[in-house]
Amino acid sequence: MNIPVAQPFIGDSEKKLVDEAMDSKELSGFCGRFISKFEKGFAEYSDCEYGVSTTSGTSALHLALAVLKIGPGDEVIVSSFTNMATFFAVLYQGAKPVPVDIEPDTWNLNPSLVEEKITKKTKAILVVHIYGHPVDMDPLIALAKKYNLFIIEDCAEAHGAVYKGRKIGSLGDIGCFSFYANKIITTGEGGMITTNNKDLADRARMLKSLAFGDKNKFMHQEIGFNFRMTNIQAAVGCAQLEKIDFIIDKKREIAGLYNDQLEKIEELQLPVEKPYAKNVYWMYHIVLRGGLKDKRGLLMSALKKEGIDTRESFIPYNGQEFFINQGLAKKSDCPVSNMVGDRGLYLPSGPILSEKEIIYVSDNIIKIINEHK
Ligand SMILES: Cc1ncc(COP(=O)(O)O)c(C=O)c1O
Repeated sequence: MNIPVAQPFIGDSEKKLVDEAMDSKELSGFCGRFISKFEKGFAEYSDCEYGVSTTSGTSALHLALAVLKIGPGDEVIVSSFTNMATFFAVLYQGAKPVPVDIEPDTWNLNPSLVEEKITKKTKAILVVHIYGHPVDMDPLIALAKKYNLFIIEDCAEAHGAVYKGRKIGSLGDIGCFSFYANKIITTGEGGMITTNNKDLADRARMLKSLAFGDKNKFMHQEIGFNFRMTNIQAAVGCAQLEKIDFIIDKKREIAGLYNDQLEKIEELQLPVEKPYAKNVYWMYHIVLRGGLKDKRGLLMSALKKEGIDTRESFIPYNGQEFFINQGLAKKSDCPVSNMVGDRGLYLPSGPILSEKEIIYVSDNIIKIINEHK
């Protein structure tokens, strides 16, 4: 057996649309029918009026902060437990990220810890719907109203997830998605911002394309970026969009099967689905506890020997040596993030996993745990 953590779900329809894009000779991010089709289709899927495609999830986050004019002197509250791209985006803009710890069950930003971090300099709350589970948004939306803050959603891992009947990406001012190869749907590399605000969408469109002028293209409006997704990537995206609900159903089915196999193992903390949430289980993430808490390396290498690929959890912002050494972060800041970062891992979660493979992975986990109790 050789079971990777993720594999894109691609086939003939992607090839067909890529061929069409190639035949049309419209390859760049400037022209070609697939870009606007993908943007419109994905925005609509995410309950948003506007979608602006980008080159990656990282550039979508960077663009969102630039669109909102967040820069030097500003502070942005960010969930500490995330891919560091979320923090990099704040730092690219010269603003200060303020890490906040997470909930022990969803691993998302803990809303009850946010208000104490708000200062006169705070401009935005940047939430991350981690591993596919939506953040508890209502308390944050209330805080954003009270203190006049923007909300940016990092949706890189949670396409199609739902919070109280509404799709993520439509809950704050701007949603930021990634279409990297291991994401729910992919364009190889790619990203998108979603919004219901026309002014923000227009500004994003302008900034992502070198801030070209309206009347005279080469009279630039300000300092812009080249964050344009190509028409070829968008063609892949259009084919993927047709499959998104199927992929999410598969991810939920896989999570259900893992839950059935692993729920009796006391030493494993499994992912949850809160009553307010539809979790899309981007990756099936678990945390080791009890006698297993220091045995992640051992478990991962024993699984590898059986052909099963796994990944460690993210190292939180407050655990990153680069930031600690510069005095930007303190390890003691976010204890729950540290605990999850040290003891968490995710299991194979690609949408083409078979039931047999899930049982094989689970049986091996149980066998290894029993050997090392
Ligand atoms: C939470 C989160 N934010 C941002 C990113 C960055 O996206 P990309 O790799 O497309 O730049 C990722 C993953 O790659 C992610 O998991």
